[in-house]
Amino acid sequence: MSRQETMLRNFELYLEENLPVVDGFHPHFQKALGEILKAGGKRFRPLLLLSVVDICSPLLLQNSYPVALGLEMLHTYSLIHDDLPSMDDANLRRGYPTLHVTYDEVTAILSGDALNTDAFLKISTAPLSDKIKIELVKILAQNGGSGGMVIGQAIDCEFEDRVLMQRELEFLHLNKTAKLIAASLLMGATICELDKNSKTAIYNFGLNLGLLFQVQDDIIDATQSQEEAGKPTGNDEHKNSFVNLLGLEGALRYKKKALEALHVELKKLDKNLATRLDTIVKGYFNG
Ligand code: IPE
Ligand code: IPE
Ligand code: MG
Ligand code: MG
Ligand code: MG
Repeated sequence: MSRQETMLRNFELYLEENLPVVDGFHPHFQKALGEILKAGGKRFRPLLLLSVVDICSPLLLQNSYPVALGLEMLHTYSLIHDDLPSMDDANLRRGYPTLHVTYDEVTAILSGDALNTDAFLKISTAPLSDKIKIELVKILAQNGGSGGMVIGQAIDCEFEDRVLMQRELEFLHLNKTAKLIAASLLMGATICELDKNSKTAIYNFGLNLGLLFQVQDDIIDATQSQEEAGKPTGNDEHKNSFVNLLGLEGALRYKKKALEALHVELKKLDKNLATRLDTIVKGYFNG
């Protein structure tokens, strides 16, 4: 088993053992809360965070699992809310019926709310120094909240059926997706207390990686079946997706260019880290 596979497996075990426990007599809230979280997904963001730690401060790897879980909890909340009828109205996520389908909208909204808040609890109680944890909370809040994922999602929904300009499109996707992916790497670098320049280089690499990630996601919507994707596809009809704006061929070309640019960016990073990230990029983007 590769180092990467072992880490992902250990993350999965950690997650299974640390699913949210909810007090009280609600008939299904605790089950709903854990359902999409443990349903799987690629675990791309935890993998990025843990990979940085594994390369730069391997002794802190074990202590970083709670932080990786917090990050995945926040991401999972964003998916649960993204699927709501008022947003993308999707009935399948990670191969399972979405929470508003299995239960109801109230359960889906509140499960998302809980994962969003509990994510920060998870990080704040990790066995790391207070100084590092404050920085981690700040990074996740800055990139996941109104200055990141949330404003991206708001623009994504507000501008359905209205074509954005290239600059606006980039703002949308940087915020909606790229910032949280960049934050995953930066959180890893923060745990390792890397210097300022290294952190900047890692974060900027992450933004480009995140854009590539969203292009690929848009291509998946246009080319895969819902069985392959584990979520409804052909669902971006009203969106400012890369495929809608550039056409499928254009999006594929954009992806190829973004991959090439990413390889240039990789050269700015520490060699061992670059080698590991290169393996991840190859694994996820066939590049
Ligand atoms: C989907 O994220 C939403 C986007 C930001 C494109 P992922 O593709 O990482 O979803 P999971 O975590 O693998 O289910
Ligand atoms: C959602 O983007 C990104 C989030 C912040 C959740 P999409 O709407 O394209 O994600 P999918 O395709 O439903 O996973
Ligand atoms: Mg969406
Ligand atoms: Mg969606
Ligand atoms: Mg999508």
